Amino acid sequence: MYAEVRPSETPAAGLAGRRGIIISGGPASVYEPSSPTVDASIFASGAAVLGICYGQQLMAHLLGGEVRKGVKGEYGLAQLEPLAASPLLGDLPAGNQIWMSHRDLVGAPPPGFRVVARTETCPVAAMEDNARRLHGVQFHPEVVHTRHGMEVLARFLFDICGCRKDWNPKLRIPLLEQSIRDVAGERNVFFFVSGGVDSTVAYTLCLRTLGAGRVRGVYVDTGLMREGETDFVRGVFAALGSSGFSVEDASERFLGALGTTIDPERKRHIIGEMFVEVQEEILQRGHYLDAQWILGQGTIYPDTIESGGTAKADVIKTHHNRVAGIQRLMAENRIVEPLSSFYKDEVREVGRELGLPEELLERHPFPGPALAIRCLCSEAGYPLERTAEGWIVPVHSVGVQGDSRSYRPVIAIEGSQPMALYATATELINRLTRVNRVMAAVRSAVALDRMRVTASVLSRKRLERLRRADAVVRRLSHESGFDRRIWQFPVVLIPLGTSERPDSVVLRPVDSVDGMTAQSAPMEAGLLEAMARELAALDGVCGVFYDLTHKPPGTIEWE
Ligand code: XMP
Repeated sequence: MYAEVRPSETPAAGLAGRRGIIISGGPASVYEPSSPTVDASIFASGAAVLGICYGQQLMAHLLGGEVRKGVKGEYGLAQLEPLAASPLLGDLPAGNQIWMSHRDLVGAPPPGFRVVARTETCPVAAMEDNARRLHGVQFHPEVVHTRHGMEVLARFLFDICGCRKDWNPKLRIPLLEQSIRDVAGERNVFFFVSGGVDSTVAYTLCLRTLGAGRVRGVYVDTGLMREGETDFVRGVFAALGSSGFSVEDASERFLGALGTTIDPERKRHIIGEMFVEVQEEILQRGHYLDAQWILGQGTIYPDTIESGGTAKADVIKTHHNRVAGIQRLMAENRIVEPLSSFYKDEVREVGRELGLPEELLERHPFPGPALAIRCLCSEAGYPLERTAEGWIVPVHSVGVQGDSRSYRPVIAIEGSQPMALYATATELINRLTRVNRVMAAVRSAVALDRMRVTASVLSRKRLERLRRADAVVRRLSHESGFDRRIWQFPVVLIPLGTSERPDSVVLRPVDSVDGMTAQSAPMEAGLLEAMARELAALDGVCGVFYDLTHKPPGTIEWE
């Protein structure tokens, strides 16, 4: 079986002869004029079609069904109620756990379709027109939280589309090695590595194929990394037997350039510019632009397609594309991207076969600007404001509202059980327009009425404080297995406290499929208690809070 990802606007003619087509999910609404759409003639092309989430809504919309705004969005776990036998759903048990992430929903299926499952709040959780081989599901079968989700996808591919399981993963590595040899020829390969999965796996493949003498990698230490990160990366590369790996310590330059900057987008801009400057210098100094060198990159398949990448794909790509040396290497086609036809899970499998540590392969996504966008600053001191609902904390964080970005204060609410405050938080965020986030107070050295926001910058001391807090959270969430159940766990430092303890820590664990929408992930009370106890004992930390905001209206990161 062979699969490829194509942009949604691909004409039906460009998909001719395919056994099946899957229309994926996404955060758009079919009624917005700029929303992605597909060529409606694919539904009559003879290929079986499966629409997932937005894909189902689009299918309904284009074929004459009704799509409407749900009364309230449905984010997270739900129970599926099968209504009729279905070749796609097979014999899923009643109450099967599924994962939902949507606001719009299909109100009525198109003519010819029947509804085969629902949930408490979603009348059309799955629909099908077996004669035309068209299927839609509102839930996400592809995420681990949907029980039996992989079986649903397998039934679509093997029973409905008639695909065959004839791909042997054992052939993968020899083929990859051959492709690297073909591209590199006699030339050497140079990499900028990030410590992330993709660039490390790509580097390891080149190293294995060409030998240590022909592969070099530089990791830029921005001084904004997590505790132990540079040593961890050094350790991984040392274990590979890579003599050509080195660390460029640029921390003074990054921190110097950031200085007292407070605005989040300005911080990102400064970091992006500094990456450009440092990478260009490394290329020049190492003579990597000479004819015997080509550039290795960890680009994976979703990065190569227009609609792919992460929410911040533009930001991530721009700095790379702006490095003049990299532009030149790309223009001259002096580039090797061994993983460019692989998906993330396949990259992990290749990494496993190459013997890379699980700790590396299972890492959560981590933003390029690193701790700089998790260490919030304030240009002046401010008191908190008491309201009927809670305390308005004048620390501004970023949110999303429709297509636009908001930058607003957060409200802190109190209760003996922070995890019982989700319903209150959702109600408040819908009602109060002044704020874009709600956080629960978990533990603090003094009562909230004695705390204030203090003037603060991105100092080494505060970065170190955040690093300590992040390390505590990472250790406890790893030991308890919590990190394996969530998508990402930002730990945020905000300048809220007293003169002796000027900062507070906000926990921001989230669940998500792609980072575009996310759900604040609840934590078990015992783990939260243990985490809060350790965090509150850290030097300079006054309070511990838990971000209860989903995305939208909050973003995953605070900045
Ligand atoms: P938000 O905060 O927009 O984040 O909900 C969505 C996903 O993108 C990551 N992120 C970034 N990644 N550079 C990156 O490389 C950035 O500037 C950046 N900002 C956010 C974030 O960690 C999450 O996975």
